[in-house]
Amino acid sequence: MCGIVGYLGPREAYPIIIEGLKRLEYRGYDSAGIALFDGTNLKVSKTKGKVADLENRVENEITKHGNVGIGHTRWATHGVPNDINSHPHISNSGDLVIIHNGIIENYESLKQELTSRGYTFQSDTDTEVLINLIEDVKTQEKVKLGQAVQIALNQVIGAYAIAVFDKNKPEEVVVARLGSPLAIGIGENEDEFFIASDASPFLEYTKNAVYLEDEEMAIIRFHKGVKIRKIKDDSLVDTYVQELQINLEQIEKGGFDHFMLKEIYEQPKAIKDTYRGRLLRNDAIIKMAGVEDNMKKFLNANRIIIVACGTSWHAGLVAEYIFEDLARIPVEVEYASEFRYRNPVITENDVVIAISQSGETADTLAAIKLAKSKGAFVFGVCNVVGSSIARETHAGAYTHAGPEIGVASTKAFTTQITVLTLIALRLARAKGTISSSDFRQHLLELELIPNKVEKALKSDAHIKMIAEIYKNSRNCLYLGRGYNFPVALEGALKLKEISYIHAEGYPAAEMKHGPIALIDENMPIVVIATKKGHYEKVVSNIQEIKSRKGKIIGIVTEGDTQVKELADHVIEVPETLESLSPLLTTIPLQLLSYHIAVMLNKDVDQPRNLAKSVTVE
Ligand code: AGP
Repeated sequence: MCGIVGYLGPREAYPIIIEGLKRLEYRGYDSAGIALFDGTNLKVSKTKGKVADLENRVENEITKHGNVGIGHTRWATHGVPNDINSHPHISNSGDLVIIHNGIIENYESLKQELTSRGYTFQSDTDTEVLINLIEDVKTQEKVKLGQAVQIALNQVIGAYAIAVFDKNKPEEVVVARLGSPLAIGIGENEDEFFIASDASPFLEYTKNAVYLEDEEMAIIRFHKGVKIRKIKDDSLVDTYVQELQINLEQIEKGGFDHFMLKEIYEQPKAIKDTYRGRLLRNDAIIKMAGVEDNMKKFLNANRIIIVACGTSWHAGLVAEYIFEDLARIPVEVEYASEFRYRNPVITENDVVIAISQSGETADTLAAIKLAKSKGAFVFGVCNVVGSSIARETHAGAYTHAGPEIGVASTKAFTTQITVLTLIALRLARAKGTISSSDFRQHLLELELIPNKVEKALKSDAHIKMIAEIYKNSRNCLYLGRGYNFPVALEGALKLKEISYIHAEGYPAAEMKHGPIALIDENMPIVVIATKKGHYEKVVSNIQEIKSRKGKIIGIVTEGDTQVKELADHVIEVPETLESLSPLLTTIPLQLLSYHIAVMLNKDVDQPRNLAKSVTVE
C-alpha cells in the first residue's frame, strides 16, 4: 500500500508532488508527508491525515521552494498512523531521506543491530530502520549512496518501492523495487525526472516512462539520466522507455462527484472496450491471443482453479458458474490468502486463473508463485497493464476497463466477468460443449450488454429514493441464487465498505438455515429475482421473508409483476441470458450502496481503513 512520488528537475517540486500524492491517495490515506531540498536545506513536513491536511501543515511549517523532493501517502503497517510514523523518514545524521511503500520483515533484528551501534529511532516504522541501515553501510563501507542502497537492500527481507536522496548530493535520487510498483517518468529532453507508484502523477508532464522490475534499482541523476542495475549483483540493465497509453481525463472525475459514480457510469464503455476486437459476432468467433496460444493447456486441464481476493474473488465465483455451465470444466474458486498457506494439491494439469484489478494484490501474487512452483499453467485477468500479476503469469487477458480509482471496485467487476465469459465461450466452442446457435446467441446478447447497462443506469433516481428510506439501517441482507449468488455477495461488500453498514450476502435458499432469524420489520433484504434462473424458487424465498415482515427490495426483470406484488420496492433491469445477468443485476446494487454512503456523508472514494491495492498480506 502507500503511494510514493518524487521529482528532480528544473521546476518547483512541491506542486508536482502534492498533486501527485492526491492522485495516489487511493493507495493509502491515513497520513502524508513531503521532503524538499531548497538548494541549501532539507525541509520535511508530515502529518497524520490526508494530503489536504499535509497542505495545511506545510503552510505553517516550511517554504514550498525546491527542485528536488519526495512525498508519501500512507496506509499504516508498522506503527499507528501519527505524525512521527508518517514518511519521509530521515537518517540519524539528518543527511539521508527516504519514502517507502512495502514492509521490511526483518526490521526488528536490523533495528537491534543498529541500536547496538548507537543509532536511535523516533518512529515505530520499519522504514526508519532501512534509512539508517543505508546510512550505516554508507559510512562503514565509505561508498556512494547508490552502492549503499544496493548493499543495504541485500540485507533486507520484505517488499519495497523506495526513493532516497542525500541532502549533500541532491542532484541524485536512488530508487528501488521489490514487490511494490515503481515508475520513472522521463521529461522531454531527459532534463527532469518523476518517480511514482504509478504513472498518474506525471501524466501531464511526460508520456515516457520506465517501469522498474522486481529486484532492480535506478540511480536518477539531473542532466545525466537513469541507470538501472540489478540489486543482487549490481549488473547493468537496459533502460526500456515505454510510451504511456493513459490520458489525463481517464484519471479525473470528469464532472462526477466521486470516482466511484464516474466508474459506475463508465461501465457500458468499459464492457465494450473489454470485448472489442475479441468478440467477432459476424464471423461467429472469439479471438483472444492468450487463450489461443495456450488452447491445449486449457483443453487438457483437469480443472481450473481461480485465485483472487475481494470483488475479484466474486467475479471468480461468477466464472465458476459460467465455465462449468458452458465449457463443462470443473472449477474451484479460492481466496488467494487461504490457498497460498493451505498446501493445496496442484498438478501440472491444472490451469490457474488469477484475477486482479490492480495486478498488485500481495496474496494473489503469492498464490500465483505457489501454483507456478507446482508446475501449473497460470493465466492472469488484470486491469492494470504491466502490473506485477500481469508479468508474473504465463499468459493473460487484460480487462481494458481504464483506470479504476474509487476504492470500491465497480467497473473492474463487470469487465472481469466479461473477459471470463469470453474465455468460457471460446473454450466451450473448442470443446463442443455449446451448440453453434447457443454460441451465436451468447455473442449477440453479450454485444447488447452495454446498451442494457445504460438502461439499468436510468433507474438511478429511483434507487436514490430507495436509498433515502434505508440509509439508517444497521444491517442488510443480500440474497441471490445461481449466477446471482456472487452478485449478492458483491452487493453486500459494496454496502459494507463504503457506508459501514453491516451487510451479508447469502444464497437465497440458504436463508432458512440461519439468517432468517435476523429478519424483522427493520431488516432490508435485497433479493435478486430475475426471470431466468430459479425464479419461482426465489419468489418462494421472498414470500418467506414477507411473512416475517422483512423489507424487500427486489432486483427484477423489466415487466415483472409477481415480485412487484410482494416486494416493498423493485428495481428493474433489462432481460438477458441468465449467464450474463450478473452484468446487469450488479448495477443497481452499486448505485444503492453509493447513494446510501453519500447520504451518510461517508468518504465514498476513500473509505476508512481501506486502500485500493492491498500489497501487504
Ligand atoms: C473491492 O471493492 C475492494 N476494495 C477489494 O475487495 C478488492 O477487490 C480486492 O482488494 C482485490 O483487489 P484486486 O482486484 O486489485 O486484486
